[in-house]
Amino acid sequence: MKQKKMRFDTEVIHAGYDSEGHLGSLVPPIYQSSAFIFDNAEQGERRFAGSEAGYIYSRLGNPTVKILEDRMAVLEEGEAALAFSSGMAAVSAVLVSLTKTGDHILCSQGVYGCTFGLLQLLKKKYNIDCHFSSMDSPETLEQEIQPNTACIYIETPINPTMKLVDLELVVKMAKQKGIPVVVDNTFSSPYLQRPIAKGCDIVIHSATKYIGGHGDVVSGLVIGNEKFITQVSKTTQKDIGGVISPFDAWLLLRGIKTLPIRMDRHCENASRIFQFLKTHPKIENIYYPGDPEHGDYAIMKKQMKQPGGMVSFAIKGTKETAQQFIDQLQLIHIAVSLGDPETLIQHPASMTHAVIPVEERKKMGIEDNLLRLSAGLEAWEDIVEDLEQALKKV
Ligand SMILES: Cc1ncc(COP(=O)(O)O)c(C=O)c1O
Repeated sequence: MKQKKMRFDTEVIHAGYDSEGHLGSLVPPIYQSSAFIFDNAEQGERRFAGSEAGYIYSRLGNPTVKILEDRMAVLEEGEAALAFSSGMAAVSAVLVSLTKTGDHILCSQGVYGCTFGLLQLLKKKYNIDCHFSSMDSPETLEQEIQPNTACIYIETPINPTMKLVDLELVVKMAKQKGIPVVVDNTFSSPYLQRPIAKGCDIVIHSATKYIGGHGDVVSGLVIGNEKFITQVSKTTQKDIGGVISPFDAWLLLRGIKTLPIRMDRHCENASRIFQFLKTHPKIENIYYPGDPEHGDYAIMKKQMKQPGGMVSFAIKGTKETAQQFIDQLQLIHIAVSLGDPETLIQHPASMTHAVIPVEERKKMGIEDNLLRLSAGLEAWEDIVEDLEQALKKV
């Protein structure tokens, strides 16, 4: 088994797996078993008491899942990781772990619609307040962090407006106040951005997206320090129970091996799409962190390896124009996921962010004519030609 830490592109293939303990199997086996047999009653007692390491029941741990968790901890530069049945299971396990009744969460100005929904639920049921912040200066943060702020929750790039949050700036302030910083790293993947290396405390993924990379699994991940991960595994993961299945963990282990080469292609295609749309007369605005005119371009340069595979744009016209446009697409599919081999487009105001009230949506910059595109892995010329023919028809 390799001993020394290797480069990212090697670790995506090897980290966390040693074939020696698995009959020499080149590929990690799928331990499709709900329970694990104890040698005798005493061993069962020791396992439950935690005095002997070993598997008990797959909601509490599973060997295939553990390989995935160990690999993700290495890739995100954390101490440990946990895998979940969805990105939202991961988000909710983290937020419920970090907060209690009467607490306050400081959140980036824009989050995925269901994360917004969860924050509303926490407010309604447990009086956990949430304030949405631009997080764009030390003064703003100083003013908005409260004595009861339990965590700072960030998406960057923000879904779907592609605004960025300066992680270094937030970490500096959070460290002074002893507040944990949580980053939803779904849009970047660890190949493009590693928040823990920048001083953040916890990273979350909807692994459904770039980590899996093939559009065939819904799953989530949390990476952090040993203490936090152990706490989550023994409470909000074990007792709420949103664990990943061994087969889905195996699909992620397979998908992640090609993350670097997929991300390079996603980024290349997004850049080509941006170049085409940027000057198109029917496009009102384009939001892509690789645009030198993007307000957060300097932040992108500082904290991301490349600008990512996502491009959002507002088409000139109304909600109906946006809908007519996507209906004309022939290659690009109308679907709400991202990070798949297929190029996907969706209308956030009526789809992923529809649960957010209109006024709040507008504050986040989600207008009715905004569309979000996930660049796939196809030949970029075919994607651009499809956009071109559809734009001609509106
Ligand atoms: C940024 C972000 N975070 C979290 C989620 C939730 O992930 P899942 O759909 O895997 O539950 C999504 C889903 O689109 C997302 O885009």
